[in-house]
Formats: sequence, C-alpha cells, structure tokens
Amino acid sequence: MVIAIDGPAGAGKSTVARALAEKLGFTYLDSGAMYRSVALAVLEQGGDPVTRAQELQIELGERVIANGKDVTTEIRTPRVTEMASRVAVDKDVRAALVAKQRELLASGDWVAEGRDIGTVVAPDAELKIFLTASPEQRARRRAAEIGADWRTVLRDQTLRDAQDANREHSPLRAAPDAIEIDTTDRTVEDVVTQIAGLARELRR
Ligand code: CDP
Repeated sequence: MVIAIDGPAGAGKSTVARALAEKLGFTYLDSGAMYRSVALAVLEQGGDPVTRAQELQIELGERVIANGKDVTTEIRTPRVTEMASRVAVDKDVRAALVAKQRELLASGDWVAEGRDIGTVVAPDAELKIFLTASPEQRARRRAAEIGADWRTVLRDQTLRDAQDANREHSPLRAAPDAIEIDTTDRTVEDVVTQIAGLARELRR
C-alpha cells in the first residue's frame, strides 16, 4: 500500500509522514531529500543538475547518504533549500528522481512525502493526503525548527511556494482524489491518528 502525502513547505508533511510510517509499520520515503541531495551536489561539484540527478546514489533512512557521504544535516541549510526548489523546475531532473522513487514504491508498504507523489509519482496510491496550513503558521513552524526569525522564513517561503506552484512541470497541486487536511490548529498526533484511521478503513 502507498500513502501519498503532498503539500507546501511547513504544512507538517515530514513530521506527519514519519510518525504515520512508524505507527503503521510502513517505510517512509522523503522525496524532498532527493531534490535536496541533487542541489547539494550541484552546489559542491557544479555541473549539470540533470547529470547530477541521474548519477545520484542515495540511501534514505535515519540518515541520508548521498554518493557515499552523510548529508543529513547539510541538505537542510537555507542555501540547499533554495537550490532544491530551483533544480526541481527541470523536467529531466524530475524524470530522473521520479524513476528512482517509482522503483522504491513498486513493492512494500510506503508513506511517501513530497509535492507530486499523488499526481505524478504514484497516481494509483491507495490513499492521497494534501496537507495545508496558513502561510504564517507554516513559517512559524519552520522558524522554530531552524531557529530563525519567522518573518524572514515567511519571505523565503512565499518565493518558494510561488516557484513550486507556478513551475511548468509537476506544479504543486492536490490530486483530484486527495483528501485535504488543514493542520493550522491541529497537533501532529491528531492528524496522524486521522490518516491512520483512513488507511485502516481502506485495508478492511
Ligand atoms: O521540507 P520542505 O517541504 O521545505 O521541502 P522538501 O520537501 O524537502 O523539498 C525541497 C524542495 O524540493 C521543494 O521546494 C520542491 O521544490 C522540491 N520537491 C519537488 O519538487 N517535488 C517533490 N516531490 C519533493 C520536493
């Protein structure tokens, strides 16, 4: 079974997806970590993002190992975040990473998180969730995570939201059959319980 969780930055996707995977005993796929790892490779080695994406060897788990190196912390820095959103506009970068994601999702039980899981990567996913929250709430959460001023985060987030939503290839949008959940005033536990309940109903 594949559960697809999509939505904008700071909507709670990573926290919810991770906790949900643990609760259900599914494997967690963080597709953003792949875009981030390509961005880091481009920043460090230069060269064509498409080649970097095609050559990417990645292990996703507790730690993210890209091309043999532990990049867990480094891929979360603001400069990598910004570059990830830029390399993600390229359709050939996307094609290379989507192929890797589909390979993983082909067998087993997964909670896969990203921007295009329900629309492009796994359109046949049994359960699709689109997580949202108000822009201010999303910025406050991210600011608390990285220890930054939330107004600065909001400004960067607004740019990245626009970039993700307006790009030509796989823009961020909810799949028509996705269930939209607004997490603004809800706890992670509450949201995880709701999605786990939906998954159990489907399995019956
Ligand atoms: O954690 P956050 O939501 O801020 O970002 P992320 O999920 O790690 O993704 C980083 C960037 O990769 C996003 O801004 C998107 O531009 C891109 N991305 C994408 O295009 N498609 C995905 N499935 C996942 C990430």
